[in-house]
Amino acid sequence: MAFVPRYHQLKEIIREGIQSGDLKPGDVIPSERELSERYNVSRMTARQSIVELTNEGLLYRRQGKGTFVAWPKIAQQLTALTGFTGDIRARGQRPGTKLLEMGMVQVDGHAALRLQVPTGQRVARLYRARLADDEPLALEQSLISFFGCEQLLEVDLVATSLYGLLETRFGLPPIEAEQEIEAGLATEAEAELLEIAVGSPVLLLRRTTYTERHQPIEYAESVYRGDKYAFHTRLLRPPTQ
Ligand code: GLP
Repeated sequence: MAFVPRYHQLKEIIREGIQSGDLKPGDVIPSERELSERYNVSRMTARQSIVELTNEGLLYRRQGKGTFVAWPKIAQQLTALTGFTGDIRARGQRPGTKLLEMGMVQVDGHAALRLQVPTGQRVARLYRARLADDEPLALEQSLISFFGCEQLLEVDLVATSLYGLLETRFGLPPIEAEQEIEAGLATEAEAELLEIAVGSPVLLLRRTTYTERHQPIEYAESVYRGDKYAFHTRLLRPPTQ
C-alpha cells in the first residue's frame, strides 16, 4: 500500500466530515491539541492539516477565536442585478460593512465617462469592506452621482445597503448594470483588509449601475476574494445566421 502521510489522512477525515455534512459551514474545528489527541498525531501534523485545508478554502481562521468550516464558494449570478447585502442574506449569512473612507471627490476621466458627467464633477465616494459573518469578502469603491448625492454621506452607511438607500430614500432604484470582471493579485493593502496573503488571486469587478431612463448612478471598482467567488451565467446558442 502506498505511504500516505499522517497529515494527509487527517485532512481527508476533516474533508469527509465537511462533505458529509457532519461539519457545517460556520462550525468550529477542534483545536490542534484536541485533534492531535483524538487522532493520535503530533500537533505539528494537526497544524499542517489545518493550514492546508485553510489554503484550499475549506476552513478559515479567526484570530483568537479558532478555525471554522468555510462556506462553499459564492455562486454569483451574472444575469441578475443584485447588491452585496441581498446576496449574502440570500445565502443565510449576516452581511456586514466596514466603512473605510467616504467623502466628496472630483471624478477623473475614466469614471466621468462611466457616470456620463464632466471630468472634475464632484461625486460621493464610498470605500467599503464587505463582510459575511464578520469575514471580509470584498473591497468596494463606489462613486455615486446624482443631484444631491452629498446627502448620502449623512446616512449611516454601515447599517444600510447602498442599493436599498438609493431606491427607498432617494427614489433611484438600480435597474440595470454593465460589469466587467478581470483577474488580479491582491496588493499589500488589499491583502491586509481582506485577511489573505499578499499576491492571492482576486477578481476585479467594474460595474456601472443605472437607474431609470438609463441614467448612471454608480460606478464601482471592487476587489473580490478569488477563493470565495465563482461567477455563474447561462448561455444560449444564438440562432444560426
Ligand atoms: C455589489 C456591487 C457594488 C454595489 C453593491 C451594493 O457588491 N459590486 O457595485 O455597490 O453591490 O450593495 P449594497 O446594497 O449591499 O450596499
